[in-house]
Amino acid sequence: MNISAPSSAFLAQHPAYAAAAALDDIRRDEYPQLAAERLTYLDYTGAGLASLRQLQEHFAWLTAEVHGNPHSPNRPSLKSTEALDQARDDVLAFFHADPEEYVVVFTQNATGALHLLGESFPFTADAQLLMTSDNHNSVLGLREFARRGHTPVAYLPMTKGDLRADEATWHHLLATPSTGGARLFAYPAQSNFSGVRHDLAWVKAAQECGWRVLLDAAAWVPTMPLNLSIVHPDFVPLSFYKMFGYPTGVGCLIARREAVDQLSRPWFSGGTVLASSLAADKAAMLPAPAGFEDGTPDFLNIPAVSIGLRHLNRLGLDRIHDRTTALLAWILADLQTLRHANGRPVIQVLGPREPEAHGPTVAFRVLAPDGLAQDERLVIEEANAAGIVLRSGCFCNPGAGEAALGFAADRLNQAFQHAGAWHSIDELVEWMEIPTLGVVRLSMGAVSNFADVETVVAFLGTFTDRAVVHRAFQSRAGC
Ligand SMILES: Cc1ncc(COP(=O)(O)O)c(C=O)c1O
Repeated sequence: MNISAPSSAFLAQHPAYAAAAALDDIRRDEYPQLAAERLTYLDYTGAGLASLRQLQEHFAWLTAEVHGNPHSPNRPSLKSTEALDQARDDVLAFFHADPEEYVVVFTQNATGALHLLGESFPFTADAQLLMTSDNHNSVLGLREFARRGHTPVAYLPMTKGDLRADEATWHHLLATPSTGGARLFAYPAQSNFSGVRHDLAWVKAAQECGWRVLLDAAAWVPTMPLNLSIVHPDFVPLSFYKMFGYPTGVGCLIARREAVDQLSRPWFSGGTVLASSLAADKAAMLPAPAGFEDGTPDFLNIPAVSIGLRHLNRLGLDRIHDRTTALLAWILADLQTLRHANGRPVIQVLGPREPEAHGPTVAFRVLAPDGLAQDERLVIEEANAAGIVLRSGCFCNPGAGEAALGFAADRLNQAFQHAGAWHSIDELVEWMEIPTLGVVRLSMGAVSNFADVETVVAFLGTFTDRAVVHRAFQSRAGC
């Protein structure tokens, strides 16, 4: 079957796809790794892809001049400082963030940004932390900082079927009376598990109730514009490799200056102090961003962020959004058509079925004719053999996974009492007394195309009328 060209039915339903045809040329010319490896890459939420052009531009910059450590006044050093400042300005401009209102703190990744926030936020006994339950582990981990300060933590649950939040419960939690301390509400703009896009209007609503808002934008920004002159979250963590593949090892915390004033660093280090004295036993911290960037910033890689942002602007986030939305609508409809001879579905989508409700990410299970799930490791193994890149596991999002699979809290509680003795996630699966997790995710991004979607649907179709495969699989190393 030739599935390289979009079908006429698809084009008729989604004219925006053809209107963004420039992306096809860019994919052919600038992403040779896909064709060279003959890969159908569907793990953009894991990592975006780097284009040849970005790499060439960065290499040209690296080799054109000498780059020094930015913390001194010699010429190569001043140039590095200029490039870092430029990258900060570029990030602010990309997100339409007013430099008077926002500051960009470079970190290692989104997780680094969250760690920075967790260690600096005033988590005291009278503070409050509220999180949606479909947050990434790197956001959920904030509860450990909260616990240290005896800050109570509350969660907004996700409904089992569509993995969305119940608005009434949310309003109820939001209206919890303040106990006098700082209040932080954390949610993902887009769930990395189900692709659910939550309402950005929650930002203002929560702020009006006295909460600082942490909007985890890591999974949103690769395919959807975020305009910080329209929504004004207090803290926005993200990783740049998810947006444009390269550089890895650079992320940032975009923070409102006014919210940053409430933070306090637990230590000082090189790069963060104006002055420190051994004899006086004192340190005078620098204001943000420097006061939040420990040690020497990644001065050779951070300038590649400017290159990546220019590249993304050239691809056009609107075009990427239009394309991936069309592909998502198509794949969701296609997956429904996969049926066993007995009429039962081959694919169980975990999360909403309506494309408007989510980003171009689909979590699903492959079902046998009797309704039991195939082991996700079988699906990944066979996908690998077919050159299709999918992701399995809980995707670092245990709350969404537990809601999707209907895990009971008391059972999980019992299981975790034995966690010290576990060697793999398989022990947790045994404790839950379920045959398998079976959860697989596909996610699309900048240069996804119709052929990718048709290839994966054809691949998933090979599970039609196949009984559950029982055999030993490699143990699950982690979540
Ligand atoms: C929604 C979301 N938040 C945070 C993260 C953490 O990103 P990183 O591992 O780059 O720090 C991820 C990574 O997948 C994510 O999808």
